[in-house]
Amino acid sequence: MSLLRRTQRLLNLSSKYVSRNCRCLSDGTQLTSRRDKIKQGPSLKEFIIGDSEPVLLDRPHIPYLPENVTFGSNRKVYFDVYGCQMNLNDTEIVWSILKKEGFEKTEIEEEADIFLVMTCAIREGAESKIWHRLDHLRGFKRRRAQKNKDRPVKIGLLGCMAERLKTKLIEKEKAVDVVAGPDSYRDLPRLLALTESGQTAVNVLLSLDETYADVMPVRLNQDSVSAFISIMRGCDNMCTYCIVPFTRGRERSRPLRSIVDEARLLADRGVKEITLLGQNVNSYRDTRENPEDKERLDTQLAKGFKTVYKSKKGGLRFADLLDEVSAAVPDMRVRFTAAHPKDFPDEVLQVISERPNICKLLHLPAQSGSTTVLERMRRGYSREAYLQLVDHVKNTIPGVGLSTDMICGFCGETDEEFEETMTLMQEVDYNIAFLFPYSMREKTAAHRRYKDDVPDSIKKLRHNRMIQLYRTKSQALNQSEIGNTHLVLIEGTAPKTGQLLGRNEFYMKVVFDQCEIESQDGGRVNMKPGDFVAVRITGAKSSVLTGVPMYHSSVREFYRDVSWGERHMLRV
Ligand code: SAH
Ligand code: SF4
Ligand code: F3S
Repeated sequence: MSLLRRTQRLLNLSSKYVSRNCRCLSDGTQLTSRRDKIKQGPSLKEFIIGDSEPVLLDRPHIPYLPENVTFGSNRKVYFDVYGCQMNLNDTEIVWSILKKEGFEKTEIEEEADIFLVMTCAIREGAESKIWHRLDHLRGFKRRRAQKNKDRPVKIGLLGCMAERLKTKLIEKEKAVDVVAGPDSYRDLPRLLALTESGQTAVNVLLSLDETYADVMPVRLNQDSVSAFISIMRGCDNMCTYCIVPFTRGRERSRPLRSIVDEARLLADRGVKEITLLGQNVNSYRDTRENPEDKERLDTQLAKGFKTVYKSKKGGLRFADLLDEVSAAVPDMRVRFTAAHPKDFPDEVLQVISERPNICKLLHLPAQSGSTTVLERMRRGYSREAYLQLVDHVKNTIPGVGLSTDMICGFCGETDEEFEETMTLMQEVDYNIAFLFPYSMREKTAAHRRYKDDVPDSIKKLRHNRMIQLYRTKSQALNQSEIGNTHLVLIEGTAPKTGQLLGRNEFYMKVVFDQCEIESQDGGRVNMKPGDFVAVRITGAKSSVLTGVPMYHSSVREFYRDVSWGERHMLRV
């Protein structure tokens, strides 16, 4: 076997090790329940060497580097993160991999030997920001080369824009030394080692099974009271406007067991809130047989939702994962995002409604209120089906909060079609909305099929109208909370006022003054980040609430005597 082949095999070993072990579980015919199955699987610790330090299973032998090369040799890395929460979590995976190899991290540019920019490609605006940052880094690199020849700066572009542009990036921006796509982060130590001899290095291979399940992310902000856990990667949905399936590849899920263990580990380290991340968490599937699933899919499709891709059969689903995670960390808040409206089985709603620690805010990205636009977007549902789902969700989880993503100015969007988006936003009370003007992306189906024919000026006008409507409505929604008591997790202090800042169940910011309040054991103590506090709401704007802290509490205690259905957030 050639040296190169052997290295590739070694590089692939770790992810194969994970999948092989997981398949073993379903082979055990004597296993009776899902919990039993999970218990008998390998734990996260078995994928981790040493105590809590994150590592890879195998240190690959690299044939074309000298044997004695230390990858990091204390080179200092400066991270720049753009894009979504997945990128933040990916950066934590990258940092985990590099830290293990002897790299250090810095937040001071002057100290950095390597700049790693985690990029986003979702809209043109996202990429322009990165080009601006690169302008700055190019200048920095040149100045360093003049000032200090022994400490050259290297620049690496990671993430979705790196995957989208591949080698074109290096052709366009000569200052870039490394380009690494979302599935090649295990290769980063090698890619960075190659740059030491002046080479540029590119790895943009997408994978069918890479989930980094065995890499325990190292959080960039160790003081943060919340953390992200990626439960799956990629997306198979192929909405016609969206670049993500091209930059992040095919959908694949992480073994359930490794997710539950990571949640427990974070709880042990004092983290109070986790967000489970995926492009479409409801299609999560840990690939073990579960014959009931065929039926589940059929019920969903009968309600007026359709899917363009062939759904996989069998396995543990998102409802199982939510069930396991929320039970494993009962004192932690559990959030998740994003959930495609086409895959909302009742089982998921049921678990959410039953568990006090699963936040009752559902992200149901509508994208448009017009059935004809939704068809062009290939979302797989109509306005009516979406509204029925909203009703169903509200009936199943009384008091539930909703958030959405909306796009205006998609190809061919007429005034009438846009007005339908406005009426949908009028009809559904969204607590949070992310609103975007459409940005045409190469490679997408819309790029091949449609014309980006809504003028920028109209897109801007429509965007402003959506923002205005959202602000007015969310202000009214927030004001209706005045007098209620919310459970708030304190995150830190508000930069301008120095008051304490936290988030309520609906991820809305709540600010209040520091003071002594009743502790859970009856004394009086000050509040600090990581505390759950009951706060009476006294004021409201469209994106922030103000309040008066009442007493220290916990997820379990706050909801002990009050079922969510009676009244979700308050205890007056
Ligand atoms: N998987 C998630 C979304 C990921 S992208 C989901 O389906 O909800 C986040 C949001 O960016 C999308 O929901 C969409 O509203 C927006 N978006 C995606 N592509 C876009 C484009 N080409 N132009 C404008 N907004 C876009
Ligand atoms: Fe993009 Fe649609 Fe996948 Fe979300 S579900 S990432 S919008 S293709
Ligand atoms: Fe951007 Fe990639 Fe996230 S395109 S929004 S960083 S999945």
